Amino acid sequence: MRQIIKPSGPLKGEIIAESDKSISHRAVIFSALARGESVIRNFLLAADTLSSFSCMQQLGVEITRDGSFLRVQGQGIEGLKEPVDVLNCGNSGTTMRLLSGLLSARPFFSVLSGDSSLNKRPMKRIIDPLSSMGAVINARGKGNFPPLAIDGQNLTAVNYTLPVASAQVKSSLLLAALTADGETTISEPHKSRDHTERMLGSMGACIKEDGLTIRLIPGSDLEPQEFIVPGDVSSAAFFMVAAAIVPGSELMIKTVGINPTRSGIIEVLSQMGANIKIENQKIVSGEPIADLVVSGSRLKATEISGAIIPRLIDELPVLAVAMAVADGTSIVRDAGELRVKETDRIAAITGELNKMGIDAEATEDGFIIEGHPDCLQGARVDSHGDHRIAMSLAVAALLAEGETVISNPEVVDISFPGFWQELERLRN
Ligand code: S3P
Repeated sequence: MRQIIKPSGPLKGEIIAESDKSISHRAVIFSALARGESVIRNFLLAADTLSSFSCMQQLGVEITRDGSFLRVQGQGIEGLKEPVDVLNCGNSGTTMRLLSGLLSARPFFSVLSGDSSLNKRPMKRIIDPLSSMGAVINARGKGNFPPLAIDGQNLTAVNYTLPVASAQVKSSLLLAALTADGETTISEPHKSRDHTERMLGSMGACIKEDGLTIRLIPGSDLEPQEFIVPGDVSSAAFFMVAAAIVPGSELMIKTVGINPTRSGIIEVLSQMGANIKIENQKIVSGEPIADLVVSGSRLKATEISGAIIPRLIDELPVLAVAMAVADGTSIVRDAGELRVKETDRIAAITGELNKMGIDAEATEDGFIIEGHPDCLQGARVDSHGDHRIAMSLAVAALLAEGETVISNPEVVDISFPGFWQELERLRN
């Protein structure tokens, strides 16, 4: 399939942000570990989170669904059952990495596999620390790539420092640590998203945070919860950038999660000159949320690196689009993790922006973009089978001269199934 996008006039109106992917994964996985019924409202109905949903069902958990409302009958961690077939994680790194930690400590055999993209993503980053806890995980490609075959064990506690900030690795280890033989300590170089700590903590797990270090003391039973999933700032980001770059736009994006470990995009876009008002702030299910009102203005270039990177890691492809139309040279450093996402996002976004007439250069750990308003040209571009690349290119196309044709646009279903319809609605 192909999606044809013509240049757009101002984007106006209101949009309710698509439900948060990271929190939806965690809600369905963690609920299954409690004893009793948890309910989840606004569960994200997208391919990635439905992978977690069906894997939990394969592990013997009873889950009923009415639209985006879920009831999960948890039987405690011990209630999980050996799956009779391979657990298919689809395109979802979060499903695979979180379940690897959980299943390493269950007394049964399980196999995790994924699609052609996921099966190329590195797993040594979880296998090494889990193995130091006593996990037995066999993997393809000298122990680095899925499928993963896990022979569950009683695990020992660990004291581990992550070489790179990663919420997936941190969460995988925290799940393994829930039933380990003592206190586990995990440190990261910069703070990555902290949904796991918040959610397990609210369920009664003994988790203590001290700066960049987290301690988990096993032994507490997890209590069932009502989870209300907020809007995903990573999905909202496409509309934030669209409203910021298309002159005359004003969009109200409602109920967006603004957890400080995720809100780097708001800071960087504001610093570039975008008008972003944060309204109706409140806390829902332990997460800060707000309505964002974003309007267009001329953007200026910026340089980003270090601690902000994990706080906007998934937003960097669409931020590259904002940088392409900002005045001056923008530089992103310390973002080598982008090379091991659903595709190599550094190569993909710079290569596709080049096709659209942008001077974008890939570096080992980021990119350099010579930005200028009015320089985007319509072109035939490729989503690389990556949802966030497809949506970023769609945002670029709004401001391009002439038509843009995006291949494989259905990949947005991974995180934002209604994206094309919402884009069409708001540009009218
Ligand atoms: C996620 C963590 C991030 C992010 C991914 C979702 C999570 O990955 O890129 O989309 O839900 O924990 P890393 O932990 O690999 O940085």
